Amino acid sequence: MSLQAKKRADYLPPAFTINDVKMDVQLHPTCTRVTSEYQVERMGNHGHALTLDGDNLTLREVCIDGQPYTDYEQTDSSLVICNVADDFSLKLVTEIDPEHNQALEGLYLSAGTYCTQCEAEGFRRITYYLDRPDVLARFEVTLHGDKQHYPTLLANGNPIARGDHDDGTHWVTWQDPHPKPAYLFALVAGDFDLLEDSYTTTSGKPVKLELYVDKGKRDQGVFALESLKRAMKWDEDTFGLEYDLDIYMIVAVDFFNMGAMENKGLNIFNSKFVLADQDSATDEDFFNVESVIAHEYFHNWTGNRVTCRDWFQLSLKEGLTVFRDQQFSADMTSPLSNRIKHVRVMREHQFAEDASAMSHPIRPEEVIEMNNFYTVTVYDKGAEVIRMFHTLLGPEKFREGMDEYFRRHDGQAVTCDDFVAAMQSVTDLNLGHFALWYSQSGTPVIEVTTSYDPQTRRMDITFSQHTAPTADQKDKASLFMPVAFDCIDSAGNHYTDDDGQVRDGMFILDTAAKTLHFSDVPEPLIPVVLGNFSAPAKVENSLSAEQLLAVFQYANDTFNRWDALQSLYDWCIHQYELENQAAVDATIWQGLEQVITRESHNHELLGECLVIPSFETLCQSRQLVEVAALNTARSQFCRDFAQRLHGPLETLFKTLETGPYQYTQTAINARRCRNVVLNHLACAGDADKLLNQQFEQADNMTDSLGALKAAQGHSPSVFESLMSRFEQRWNHDPLVLDKWFGLHATTERTDILSQLSLLQQHPRFAKGNPNRVRAVIGSFAFFNTAGFHAPDGSGYQFVTDYLLKLDAVNPQVAARIVTPLTQWHNFAPDYQLLMKAQLERIANHKGLSGDLYEKVSKSLAFKVNSEQQ
Ligand code: TRP
Ligand code: ZN
Repeated sequence: MSLQAKKRADYLPPAFTINDVKMDVQLHPTCTRVTSEYQVERMGNHGHALTLDGDNLTLREVCIDGQPYTDYEQTDSSLVICNVADDFSLKLVTEIDPEHNQALEGLYLSAGTYCTQCEAEGFRRITYYLDRPDVLARFEVTLHGDKQHYPTLLANGNPIARGDHDDGTHWVTWQDPHPKPAYLFALVAGDFDLLEDSYTTTSGKPVKLELYVDKGKRDQGVFALESLKRAMKWDEDTFGLEYDLDIYMIVAVDFFNMGAMENKGLNIFNSKFVLADQDSATDEDFFNVESVIAHEYFHNWTGNRVTCRDWFQLSLKEGLTVFRDQQFSADMTSPLSNRIKHVRVMREHQFAEDASAMSHPIRPEEVIEMNNFYTVTVYDKGAEVIRMFHTLLGPEKFREGMDEYFRRHDGQAVTCDDFVAAMQSVTDLNLGHFALWYSQSGTPVIEVTTSYDPQTRRMDITFSQHTAPTADQKDKASLFMPVAFDCIDSAGNHYTDDDGQVRDGMFILDTAAKTLHFSDVPEPLIPVVLGNFSAPAKVENSLSAEQLLAVFQYANDTFNRWDALQSLYDWCIHQYELENQAAVDATIWQGLEQVITRESHNHELLGECLVIPSFETLCQSRQLVEVAALNTARSQFCRDFAQRLHGPLETLFKTLETGPYQYTQTAINARRCRNVVLNHLACAGDADKLLNQQFEQADNMTDSLGALKAAQGHSPSVFESLMSRFEQRWNHDPLVLDKWFGLHATTERTDILSQLSLLQQHPRFAKGNPNRVRAVIGSFAFFNTAGFHAPDGSGYQFVTDYLLKLDAVNPQVAARIVTPLTQWHNFAPDYQLLMKAQLERIANHKGLSGDLYEKVSKSLAFKVNSEQQ
């Protein structure tokens, strides 16, 4: 573990490269023997020794060109081989212990399956290597393992030979023809059910598709396999990109730190993102399976064929691939709810990250533990930046730019600058200023101010932007932003600006301020800004409740319409915080009633628009949050909302009979709307019968869970009884039981901590399984507002106690769950003190991992905005 930060600016090309790798892996639970042979080549004219990365390895043998070699030194994290030639073959034998590898990085054995996770720097836990993404080699791998326990032996590429040994073991040799960085290496050994299929590419090439799942789960893999074929087709149609091997394999495993991994030809997935059927998976689960399957598949071009030069460039592959999977999902499902889903992630999580001690540009400048930079900034803000290229260039030019990117860089390890240069080559637009998005962190705020002169009937709308200093960066410049814009009056007429700065509903904001002029307007106009969330920015546009309702009614952009209601709810809740409920007057309630009655057939829109902003979203428009007060204000508003609108909500609910389960967009929209409304009905009270009935009659997980969620917090006795029935029904299936764990952990009750202890003693809980840990501890820390922020600090203390234990087992997961604690600066001083006290405990803990150290020490050193100047 190194606590020394690496800097992007310090990049040096590798002193040596490895062109060919031959590996022989003798699988054994506690002593797996790895023999690797490398063809090594010196790069450039220098006399340096060869330094290989390694972590937790037992070295048994070193040979050069077939002869034992002794001129080497070992450190904690490296093997330095001295006095080597310019070209030579190096053979190493190392031993590792997969069974006790609970960090789930490198090669690990869990639930009877061997698998690997090498991104970002896990390959060095398998053998000594040049473990950096700009060293690309051809791999040939032979696996040996017990035939009975591990009938399936997989690695990247194509199987070229196999056989049996005399001792009950067997072996398979795999060859991957595509040179790749070590982070894309994978192997799997286990006993699975196999789903087989095939796909023929547009150019007529047949590809074998294989999906490996736990025994007995075949039926739950069908949807993932269908999703894969849809993704393959979409990438051919949209980007002209075909798959490049004869076989594509996906393996679902139960122990996995993240969602899934795009290893060349052999994706490894968290089973949560593969297994899905009507009974056990919600519509949202299906959606997630399809989008993660697509994401990993799309990496084959954006990530594998063209990879990253160094890990600071992570967004090169992740931002771009997230954008691609978002476009795919929008095409397969509903563009609106898809967009809203991602905007919620941006506002609830990315904006929060950018305002915190961990703030970093999408291309970070400095990293201690790379695993800490698989962030919402790199992934989701990164995708927003790619989306802005797409918006600025238009779909055709964007496609041309992508074609050029692949033409230039196929087979290479490149930088974000290389991507921008490829895009620049197809457009006259100067992307120099735009590229600031790669190096500047923080969320820009666009402030909208208006002035209207009734005499001259002229109206000016001024947009000014500023980005506050962030933890990592003091000085900010004006960004280059595409701002989707629409302008209406109270009767719904649309207006165009005098100078034609707005073109196709968009203008560019690339200076500190810009003013649009309108003449001959009868009344003050309503600016409608940032349609479809055209840039990852906050907008300060102080519209009245009335104007927001007009935006909902008349704006062209559906995202703007949804957003107007979100702002309205936020404003209403603020009135409740001020104990000024009366400001939310009859006209507003009537306006909301009309929203429901006028749009009652648009289930997609209502399913989104009837959702009150979460506590996390509300925090983004507030400072020094008094948790209990905001939580109470929000609950009170929710209750008034449910009671005042009870009539229309009930009427709507009755029209939302969804019939027997179908996974079609119409049915999904209706179910979503129905469950959102059910939640309001439960909040109004007196819905116990309805809740029981829906749970009883549900023929799918979406509706079962919808009933449970509506009962949680509104109807404790129904909740308890339905929860115990749910547990009995799903006790055999931990993946489904995670929903149950999560519901318990997010329930607001005074004895929540003893509940959490009980959950940890549940026979299905396993502290080594990240899915279970996230479902219980993660859900509590991220989403149990009242419990986590208990005024006596007990919630913070509970999470800290847990994290200190978890850190010794799985630092990657511990470092993710610590995030809510590191956001102490959002909360009122009393909370801050309590949160920081726990962070201090973590910082002072002996043997702390680099993962936690980086996040906690940054958080403790963090100075809030005004102190930074
Ligand atoms: N490249 C993976 C993806 O986004 C991310 C990933 C999977 C990962 N497992 C990981 C990152 C473990 C760090 C550590 O598709
Ligand atoms: Zn990815």
